Amino acid sequence: MILEAVVPFRSRDVGFKLALEDWEVASYYRLRRRIFCDEQRLFPADDRDTVDDRALPIVAVSRVAGIPDDVVGVVRVWQEGAGLWWGGRLGTHPEHRRNGTIGPGLVRLAVRTACRRGCSRFRATVQLPNVPLFERLHWRAIGDARVCDIPHALMEADLDHYRAGLP
Ligand SMILES: CC(C)(COP(=O)(O)OP(=O)(O)OC[C@H]1O[C@@H](n2cnc3c(N)ncnc32)[C@H](O)[C@@H]1OP(=O)(O)O)[C@@H](O)C(=O)NCCC(=O)NCCS
Repeated sequence: MILEAVVPFRSRDVGFKLALEDWEVASYYRLRRRIFCDEQRLFPADDRDTVDDRALPIVAVSRVAGIPDDVVGVVRVWQEGAGLWWGGRLGTHPEHRRNGTIGPGLVRLAVRTACRRGCSRFRATVQLPNVPLFERLHWRAIGDARVCDIPHALMEADLDHYRAGLP
C-alpha cells in the first residue's frame, strides 16, 4: 500500500491589521517568541523590550470560512523622532512563508500605518539574507548596522511608493 503524504491545510485567506483584540496581541507576542527566540535564537526566552511600550503591533490574520483563525505574521512600528519611524520584528509563521503575500503585506501596512501618522522617513535594520526581499518592496540600503551582534543592512522605504492611494 502506498500512503500519500497529506499536505496540512493552510488558509491562503489572510488579512492585515493593527493587533487590537487581546487574542491578537497574545498571539503576536507568541509568534514573535517562536521566530526570534526559538527559531533564530536572537533572544534567550523573551524578545520583548522597552520599544514595545510605544510600538504599534501589526498582525497578519488567517481566516477560515471568513472567520479570523490565527495570527500568521507579525511586525511592529514605532516613532523615534520628528517624522522618523522604524519597523521591526517582521516575521511570518514558518508554515506560511514564501507565498509572496504575508511578508510583503506586513511591510506595506507597517509603512502605510506610519505614513498616516505623519512619517517622513521609515527605516529598518534588515537581516542580510532579506535585503533582496526589501529591495523588491521598494526599499534601499543606506548603511550598515549590527543588531544582536549580527550584521544587518540599514534600509529606508521609498515613501512615494507606499503613500500611493492614501488620503
Ligand atoms: C523574512 C520573512 C518575514 C519573509 O516573509 P514571507 O511571508 O515568507 O515573504 P514572501 O512570501 O514574500 O517570501 C519571501 C521569499 O519567498 C520567495 N517566494 C515568494 N513567493 C514565492 C512562491 N510563490 N514560490 C516560491 N517562492 C516564493 C520570495 O522570492 C522570497 O525569496 P528570497 O527571500 O529568497 O528572495 C520570513 O522569511 C521570516 O519570517 N523569516 C524569519 C524572521 C526574519 O528573518 N525576519 C526578518 C528580519 S529582517
